[in-house]
Amino acid sequence: MGIRLEGAVAIVTGAAAGIGQVFSVALAAEGARVILADIASAQQTQALIEAAGGEALSLICDVTSETDITAMADAALKKYGKIDILVNNAGIYPIANIEDTDMALWNRIIGINLTGTFLATRSVVPTMKVAGKGKIINISSGTFFMGTPGLAPYVATKGAVIGMARSLAAELGDFNIQVNCIAPGLTTTPGVNNGMGEAMRDGVVMMQANKRREIPEDMTGALLFLASSDSDFMTGQVMLVDGGAARS
Ligand SMILES: NC(=O)c1ccc[n+]([C@@H]2O[C@H](COP(=O)([O-])OP(=O)(O)OC[C@H]3O[C@@H](n4cnc5c(N)ncnc54)[C@H](O)[C@@H]3O)[C@@H](O)[C@H]2O)c1
Repeated sequence: MGIRLEGAVAIVTGAAAGIGQVFSVALAAEGARVILADIASAQQTQALIEAAGGEALSLICDVTSETDITAMADAALKKYGKIDILVNNAGIYPIANIEDTDMALWNRIIGINLTGTFLATRSVVPTMKVAGKGKIINISSGTFFMGTPGLAPYVATKGAVIGMARSLAAELGDFNIQVNCIAPGLTTTPGVNNGMGEAMRDGVVMMQANKRREIPEDMTGALLFLASSDSDFMTGQVMLVDGGAARS
């Protein structure tokens, strides 16, 4: 166990699987107590953290639900009395051309990726303001920089969370709250395994400078930097961790 985040309390949305699971384990390994918020059970993530000697609390939480998000923040404050770090990670990335994107699909993508980020952020800012410090990390995507086709609503949300971070960085700077983003490249997770073919994944590797598939662990260095005091003078920024895919 490390100590960079000793005593800190972190919330990670979408913590049951993929990037959110690995990020939660990494935060806990540095001493943070982690609230694992997911629409699915995050018991497996909690077990991984506890097996390594860490502390976590898993909650069923749909990030599109104002009620669930309020309950999530309340549970964190009741158990730990503070929230130091929020990782807005829950997200979906269904592939569909624009003419095949009906209102239900559009609203689902916007609801989880963008409104969820808004709701979770709004739920933690008051306590961070009182504490006079906080770290908010939005998970964007390299697709925003590449303009990846077949993902227009998704890419729009991933640009929007960068926009939100830039505005909030200015709004919350006087309260010593930093708001930054990590933009992953195509990363091996359950969501990608279920939704994307091997050819598409190999094609992305060929565009990268580092020619291997990205894994969530490739981003834990960026995560811990943005979650810790190492990044106290950096806000409103994006760390693009994609093996050098989006170079133009
Ligand atoms: N994997 C990639 O290639 C990649 C690339 C760029 C950005 N991202 C972003 O990283 C984040 C995580 O992606 P991943 O690949 O790990 O996804 P994943 O599908 O493997 O896991 C996503 C998790 O989010 C949870 N979730 C879904 N809807 C939710 C909701 N309404 N409320 C709460 N939790 C919900 C799921 O239950 C799941 O546990 C997403 O925001 C995604 O857009 C992923």
